[in-house]
Amino acid sequence: MRFDIITIFPKIFSAKGGSYLSESILGRAQKNKLIEIKIHNLRDFSKDKHRKVDDRPYGGGPGMVMAIEPIIRAIKSIKIKNKSKIKVILFTPAGKQFNNKMAIDFSKKYDHLILICGRYEGIDARVKKVIYDLGFKIHEISIGPYVLTGGELPAMVLIDAVSRQIPGVLGKLESLEEKRQLGMLAYTRPEVFKWRGKKYLVPKILLSGHHKKIEEWRKK
Ligand code: ADE
Repeated sequence: MRFDIITIFPKIFSAKGGSYLSESILGRAQKNKLIEIKIHNLRDFSKDKHRKVDDRPYGGGPGMVMAIEPIIRAIKSIKIKNKSKIKVILFTPAGKQFNNKMAIDFSKKYDHLILICGRYEGIDARVKKVIYDLGFKIHEISIGPYVLTGGELPAMVLIDAVSRQIPGVLGKLESLEEKRQLGMLAYTRPEVFKWRGKKYLVPKILLSGHHKKIEEWRKK
């Protein structure tokens, strides 16, 4: 899976800054070429001598709007193999709320995701139309019912959730742990944790060695 991120804050993703994407499982997935992440600085696609990428909104109102041309030029600069396997994603708090089902769906249907990180008060609404007219599927996505300062964190969240659905990204053990992460209670040593005069115990059944009973207890 290839991810192209279009942002005005490329340093958020750069390894030198200690990027979330280059550590742990995602770092390993990149080394193993299971995923590839490319960052595009939107300002590189501005024709303005001050590398401006935003402007005041028509009709008035507060804040600035991200301009159309740099975004389209950035998308056009990305090498495209098969348009039907690409999805362009625009991050906005008004988008469809992202969930694990979508992460699974994206990992299966696409081999290339282009992620546009919005900033300011929004993106020129024509961006969506032009991208559609260029023949891409486009989807507006929110990662939750709260407003962030931009689409960079949402991009990382989506990359994380989609990547771990790609075969081989999680090791065997991590795949098994998945079951536990999805709501299963877990305990490890010590058997008795003493804190301020109180004892916190591991459920007895887990120490019993009765695998079948443990399985039933876990299901419950
Ligand atoms: N941009 C600002 N807030 C956002 C959110 N919750 N999801 C996606 N993009 C955003």
